[in-house]
Amino acid sequence: MGKPKKINTEFLLPSDENIAIVAQALRKGEIAAMPTETVYGLAANVWDPQAVAKIFAAKERPLFDPLIVHVSPKLVTKAIEGPRSDILKSLHRLGLIDLPAIPREVQDAVTFLATHFWPGPLTLVLPKGPKVPDLVTAGLATVAIRMPRNPIAQSLIDAADVPLAAPSANRFGHISPTTAIAVQEELDGRVGWILDGGQCTVGVESTILGFGPDGNFIIHRSGGIPIETLQSIVGERPITISHQNEAFSKPLMPGQLASHYAPTKGLSMIPSFEVAGALDRSVELLEAALSSHLRLGVLLQNRQSLDLLMSRLSPKHQNRIQTWVLSERGSLDEAAQNLFKSLREMDRSPNPTLFAEGLDSPIGLGHAIQDRLTRASKKSDGNPELFAES
Ligand code: TXA
Ligand code: MG
Repeated sequence: MGKPKKINTEFLLPSDENIAIVAQALRKGEIAAMPTETVYGLAANVWDPQAVAKIFAAKERPLFDPLIVHVSPKLVTKAIEGPRSDILKSLHRLGLIDLPAIPREVQDAVTFLATHFWPGPLTLVLPKGPKVPDLVTAGLATVAIRMPRNPIAQSLIDAADVPLAAPSANRFGHISPTTAIAVQEELDGRVGWILDGGQCTVGVESTILGFGPDGNFIIHRSGGIPIETLQSIVGERPITISHQNEAFSKPLMPGQLASHYAPTKGLSMIPSFEVAGALDRSVELLEAALSSHLRLGVLLQNRQSLDLLMSRLSPKHQNRIQTWVLSERGSLDEAAQNLFKSLREMDRSPNPTLFAEGLDSPIGLGHAIQDRLTRASKKSDGNPELFAES
């Protein structure tokens, strides 16, 4: 896989005409960046292995990392004339999944989930259909599928009239882009078109859900649909969060790599100030860092944390700390939406080293926020930087 040759990157507003231009390019085997409600994706026609190979080249993504396939409501209903409850039959008819390989009771539960959460930030991992190129699934027997809610992504899939394979539109291991400008920062000269759909509304990637041999659900990556919400829908059937052994050199799920979503500068986690004693320890840690660094960037969860921290620092130290607040009022929705944007700004800021406040016992979208911060703070050897666990 050689280095891709430099191409001209063009921003396009998502008019019908521009969507048609990009769809045509995708049908001809090109790649393009599209907005989704979670993060921007780098799309290619799923049936065209040469086009899919361009995604891996542009992202410098290892071939062992499989892609998510995106479908639209229209594409799915077109494949079979029937009620929405026939969603798995449609995916089978499209050649994306192998329906008979899914146990009957799992079929019912998956259909229930898909009808409930699609379109939206839920990715389902299902037995792969014969038509899906091995490159898309990295040779796995399963394929990850999602139906984005973003209307621009849906229109692009409709216009291309094929499912689109699309990972997040960042270089491998970098912070995912939640604006068109962030895509340009990552992939300028490597992608021909960026459809500009403004800022992503969810801000963290989709939740990836598969099932084990016992038919129970496994979350491979926490994301836009919290585990509590999924659990309330599937009822009795348990859902567990998979904790992949990070020691594997080729993990099943690179989204689970110890170091991922990482800024280029060092990022260290500090515990949530809601934990007893955490504020004291964090102040000590930041003051120690200020003895060797001129200035620091600090990401805080909410306004209260900012006020607490400032009340404990001398004015001299306050002036040397630049702060970002994920959500003034402590809303998890807002925090998730701002997460990658803030990390990107911090990475670009003149602060040589960065800190981020974690969450105490995360709930809802807090699982995904905590997960991304932890991975962003880990060095490639898998050890967190400086983080003093209580
Ligand atoms: O929200 C999202 O999911 C975004 C938008 C663009 O849709 N996409 C995204 O793709 O986050 P990506 O490639 O950055 O992350 C996809 C993750 C990878 O960690 C990959 O390992 C996992 O999905 N994955 C793909 N196929 C899989 C499979 N068959 N089994 C388990 N994991 C799979
Ligand atoms: Mg990604």
